[in-house]
Amino acid sequence: MSSTTPDSQRLFFALWPDATLQEDIDRRAHKLIGKHVKRVPAHNLHITLAFLGSVSREQRACCEQVAAGIQAQGFALSLECIGHWPRPRILWLSPSQQPEALRALVHTLNATLVTCGFTPDARPYHAHMTLARKVGRPLSVRSIEPIDWMVDSFALVESVTAPEGPCYQVLKHWPLQDTTPDLQSALCPE
Ligand code: 2AM
Repeated sequence: MSSTTPDSQRLFFALWPDATLQEDIDRRAHKLIGKHVKRVPAHNLHITLAFLGSVSREQRACCEQVAAGIQAQGFALSLECIGHWPRPRILWLSPSQQPEALRALVHTLNATLVTCGFTPDARPYHAHMTLARKVGRPLSVRSIEPIDWMVDSFALVESVTAPEGPCYQVLKHWPLQDTTPDLQSALCPE
């Protein structure tokens, strides 16, 4: 690892859409939410897999080693459910189904990150993409026309706090094994 790597960084593993998909989602979010709510900027849109928090240089090296050793399948996501969590006050977009390959990736990451000194989040995993923060109430809309995403990699991302809000920087990404399309739609969860 480069000697310029800082002593500690705020990191997380995520699924990172390419810029075209981010802009597409942002356009759809704009139509849906309007301009009175502050949306997450297009370049920050992502789905977190595992949040690590403050990570030392040694732990980052360990995380990268863990990630490089992961053998997981790619998968297709159909982003179509709109939801709201009142406590963090966020409005999110989620897939109608969490593919088995996504569950397996999250499980493997959490299980192996223990060796780097991380404690997995005890809450059940719910894949979501935060579209807007500081939102007091849900939208009346519960689903949108599906946005298809073939996920073929996962990323280690740094979160840097700036005065205008968090800024995310993809540090590294690793491929997933060949992706089989499985874009079946299902009912959106409550
Ligand atoms: P959120 O979008 O639901 O807030 C970077 O902060 C990413 O990690 C965000 O996608 C955030 O999810 C997620 N995350 C998960 N647990 C977190 C925590 N304890 N603190 C901050 N972010 C967390």
